[in-house]
Amino acid sequence: MTDKPLIEITDLEVTYWGRSLMGIGGKPFHAVRGANLSIRAGETLGLVGESGSGKSSIANAVLGLVTASGGSIRFGDAELTAMRTRYPPAIRSQIQAVFQDPYSSLNPSMTVEAIVTEPLHVHTSMDRAARRARAIELLKLVSLSEEHLDRHPHQFSGGQRQRIAIAAALALQPKLIVLDEPVSALDVSTQNQIINLLYERRAEFGIAYLMIAHDLALVHHISDRIAVMYLGHIVEEGPSDRVYHAPAHPYTRALLDAVPLLDPAAQRRRRAARKFAPAPDAPRLSATGCPYQNRCPHVMPRCRAEMPPAFAIAGGGTAACFLHAPDAGPAPETARLSGQPACKEPAAP
Ligand SMILES: Nc1ncnc2c1ncn2[C@@H]1O[C@H](COP(=O)(O)OP(=O)(O)OP(=O)(O)O)[C@@H](O)[C@H]1O
Ligand SMILES: [Mg+2]
Repeated sequence: MTDKPLIEITDLEVTYWGRSLMGIGGKPFHAVRGANLSIRAGETLGLVGESGSGKSSIANAVLGLVTASGGSIRFGDAELTAMRTRYPPAIRSQIQAVFQDPYSSLNPSMTVEAIVTEPLHVHTSMDRAARRARAIELLKLVSLSEEHLDRHPHQFSGGQRQRIAIAAALALQPKLIVLDEPVSALDVSTQNQIINLLYERRAEFGIAYLMIAHDLALVHHISDRIAVMYLGHIVEEGPSDRVYHAPAHPYTRALLDAVPLLDPAAQRRRRAARKFAPAPDAPRLSATGCPYQNRCPHVMPRCRAEMPPAFAIAGGGTAACFLHAPDAGPAPETARLSGQPACKEPAAP
């Protein structure tokens, strides 16, 4: 891995414009608000957060499927936001994607051979025989075989379809694959198989992943770093083990608490320990201050007045939370929020 990031996202904004009755104007919706992220060659960045937090909006801005309304996305020496959604072939071939739904992302009328070789057809001068030979190689990389080449997507399970999508994404040996919830639609054992497959191919080819998921526990295994999003903001970022075992932002903590515990008694105790409930009439997002203020059990007057910047966290990374301001002092909450293994049973009350 080199120190220079493969992709560097700075102050990224993604805004969607609603339609007014007359079809013009409408209100802007800020789905991504000043996101900063970077991924080095061969590195996996896990991006987590609840539904609607803006994860796919970042993914789609990287893929050129939506236009950034502000900020920058540098990929090597290229500024992707300047190209809007028209990436030249040299860039397009280096950034590939795998999406959540293997039932709708594969064209049902195409054979597996056509699906897997389509990128080769578009981006290389390989002839049909060479493409077919490469397709067989690619299927082997995802534990499928030559006999599957002439079949259609409906003849495969969800997990197998996702393997086909991964084979197509690997075809051009990209530098980056954007994985937008690639296993969310699959059962748990198939999820593990696909995660292992992605892990092995990354090690083999040195590909970088932007891996999106709801579940922090799931991305922890495969990610070098994890970033956590809440209402369009990156609220925490850092080395995977640090974020998972010692979450610094109260929202990351809440995400980890949402991972079910196997022991029902421990689950009951943890639920009881979660005393804080936001006021039912609190707005989701306030006009000023921290985006998490209305759900945060540690909210302080300062959190309502100003947006917390990203503070450095011991063990690596940052958290946008005033609990970690250098002048915050060792508040009891701060002590509780750091250094604790995630998913550990809370002490019985
Ligand atoms: N094309 C669009 N037009 C208007 N609003 C949109 C559009 N796409 C997304 N949004 C809104 O932007 C916000 C962020 O959406 P996004 O899909 O990026 O979230 P997400 O974190 O990927 O959620 P999920 O986990 O459900 O996939 C949501 O409130 C969503 O409703
Ligand atoms: Mg999404």
